Amino acid sequence: MSNNILKGKKGIIFGALNENSIAWKVAELCHAEGAQIVLTNAPVAAKIGQTEELAKALNAPLIFADVTKMEDLENLVAGATEALGGPLDFVLHSVGMSLNVRKKNPYTDSNYDYMHQTLDISAMSFHRLMQTLIKKDAMNEWGSIVALSYIAAQRTFPDYGEMADAKSLLESFARSFGYHYGKKKHVRVNTISQSPTKTTAGSGVGGFDAFFNYADKMSPLGNASADACAEYCVSLFSDYTRMVTMQNLFHDGGFSFTGISTDLMDGFRDAAGE
Ligand SMILES: NC(=O)c1ccc[n+]([C@@H]2O[C@H](COP(=O)([O-])OP(=O)(O)OC[C@H]3O[C@@H](n4cnc5c(N)ncnc54)[C@H](O)[C@@H]3O)[C@@H](O)[C@H]2O)c1
Repeated sequence: MSNNILKGKKGIIFGALNENSIAWKVAELCHAEGAQIVLTNAPVAAKIGQTEELAKALNAPLIFADVTKMEDLENLVAGATEALGGPLDFVLHSVGMSLNVRKKNPYTDSNYDYMHQTLDISAMSFHRLMQTLIKKDAMNEWGSIVALSYIAAQRTFPDYGEMADAKSLLESFARSFGYHYGKKKHVRVNTISQSPTKTTAGSGVGGFDAFFNYADKMSPLGNASADACAEYCVSLFSDYTRMVTMQNLFHDGGFSFTGISTDLMDGFRDAAGE
């Protein structure tokens, strides 16, 4: 069911690799809610993903860009504003990758070339993107920029490795850049801290399935799905959240503020023979 709450709005969506991607669901819902979108992904996604299929289905231009390359982002922003016929109202940064996690390097034995790339792809890209947008004056007044984060930015989850550090930096960029973009153009910048979600990036984290089940049992509402995340993104792109900026917004079914759940306690009671 569509309420057309993004009618007339234009945006760029990063990171829709396949139908499990959070960005895939966001793109579909933005389209259904009346927005015009441009899709983007890393050039390698043309070989390993289905971004082109989504672009066809949504009749959305697709412009490949590697987020570590300034030139690619400049081409993307110029190409998107041209294709959409004007400045943007929203942007979703849904990009993350860790080479040390992927290669299963222990956190205490990290390869620094890999760590550098992880921080570059997963966090500095967000600053680079916003710097490109602000320099090209590519956002409309009261526009909305959202990046996806994870609670390992605040609390330690050992298997999440250096991605925790990347997410801390990502959230910090949202606050710091959000101040400047708010002052300059009333553009709001937020991160959504999403529940574990079964996607290509998510499943790359060691012990993901066990962790997914743990988070689901810990959260009073259960894990938030990718579809629910898309709904939250759309609300942040809409005019109903115009005064929300510089926030890290937990979208996790209550996980972040739960100390222990009865479901998990029952398991410990059983183990203790109570
Ligand atoms: N899946 C989860 O459990 C979970 C939880 C919280 C936050 N997130 C975050 O959500 C975001 C989206 O991830 P997802 O779970 O949908 O997985 P995904 O694998 O579908 O998406 C990650 C995307 O990043 C893109 N990417 C990687 N390197 C790139 C580069 N150099 N240039 C451009 N794009 C590049 C990939 O092509 C892919 O489309 C990430 O920031 C991730 O950290 C995921």
